[in-house]
Amino acid sequence: MTVFGTGYLGATHAACMAELGHEVLGVDVDHAKIAALQEGKVPFYEPGLPEILQRNLENGRLRFTTDYAEAAEFATVHFVGVGTPQRKGSYAADTTYVEAVVRDLAGLVSGEHLVIGKSTVPVGTAHRLQTLADGVVGERRGGIAEKREDNITVVWNPEFLREGHAVADTLRPDRIVLGVDDGSEDNAAVETVREIYASALEAETPLLVMDLPTAELVKVSANAFLATKISFINAVSEVCEAAGGDVTALADAIGLDERIGRKFLGAGLGFGGGCLPKDIRAFMARAGELGADQALTFLREVDAINMRRREKLVEIAKEALGGNVIGRNITVLGAAFKPNSDDVRDSPALNVAGSLNLAGAAVTVFDPEAMDNASKLFPTLTYAGTVEEALEGTELVIVATEWKQFQELDPEAARGPVAAPVVIDGRNCLDRGDWERAGWRYLALGRG
Ligand code: UDX
Repeated sequence: MTVFGTGYLGATHAACMAELGHEVLGVDVDHAKIAALQEGKVPFYEPGLPEILQRNLENGRLRFTTDYAEAAEFATVHFVGVGTPQRKGSYAADTTYVEAVVRDLAGLVSGEHLVIGKSTVPVGTAHRLQTLADGVVGERRGGIAEKREDNITVVWNPEFLREGHAVADTLRPDRIVLGVDDGSEDNAAVETVREIYASALEAETPLLVMDLPTAELVKVSANAFLATKISFINAVSEVCEAAGGDVTALADAIGLDERIGRKFLGAGLGFGGGCLPKDIRAFMARAGELGADQALTFLREVDAINMRRREKLVEIAKEALGGNVIGRNITVLGAAFKPNSDDVRDSPALNVAGSLNLAGAAVTVFDPEAMDNASKLFPTLTYAGTVEEALEGTELVIVATEWKQFQELDPEAARGPVAAPVVIDGRNCLDRGDWERAGWRYLALGRG
């Protein structure tokens, strides 16, 4: 099989498919990325992935190329995991990259080929790609209708992997969703997909076969639900702040109701990253195009609640420093959008660090993995080599990403290098009692 796109999703998928025993060719137009992967270097931080990549390069089951003709020749099954970023000046997703892959492939294939889309796309894309592929293949046939041996079938198999857990989520997903043209279990593509995911299916992972639009919608609905759950608790957080309640105690209490569950009720700086923010916006845009915009207007509020948390934290920081941050030393612990990741795309942590810097503060940042990416995006911040260095002489510490390393900080020892022991727990991840007992002024989001 081939895997088109070697970003987060594609590189992980390619390596994990090889790990399952398949012969895999990873394909990308980015020469530098392909060269790095071919040398066994993962261009992002993902626990466990470098080992799998190395192992499968060495055993020869995994290779990488930029040559589409080679890919069309190499396999008859092609996964597509290229990006669908937010379009500039719009909420909608940009599907040019998925279109380009299908168009180029359709110009090169001979025989029957299966395209398995994994990228997150607006509903209706798979159908449009099928029409596109049919058009290109038809043109190549020169209009000779009976010469039908070259053919592409497009199916959709959305990906639910989380950064930081990408390997486990790919090897042992909690469900496999497959959208096929007729929505039928008897569709010829179902058998091929069963073979590909045989080990997961043996481990009783459910395979859900459905029509193409439903499969496309499953993915965006799942992400919209997760975003809504986070913004729900963050909205309650705002009320807790106004009323003097504690959102973490509240989340524990409502989370014990099995129908609600405690997961994704982590109140704090809210969601960021390459998926949730972009996906809810693309979902709203697509619903609007379909005339169903009213259905998703609540997602605007979900987005707004989420962005307000960042502003609130900046406000708390200003208040903690007496109303003005100009020239003050602030330490931000965390730059990644979440722990176990070096991804700083739409990172709440960096957003806060950047805002305080723009407001005149001298901001020092430390993150265990995301320093390179952060310094590229925000070169005006100071980047420390260690937590201790970041704390030196600071007047305010903000914990903005809940890395284990920060949660395990000894508040006594952390007091040593600081100029003033004030901490804002932006992720509600520290033990308030411990920090207060060690003499810190402890501030947080949603805790009265
Ligand atoms: C998400 C989906 O979980 C995954 O299924 C999909 O394939 C891609 O998008 P990911 O972006 O890796 O995955 O991150 P996720 O773990 O979902 O966290 C998203 C954001 O929400 C992070 O910024 C995280 O800090 C935040 N979050 C999460 C909270 O603020 N509170 C929570 O309780 C949980």
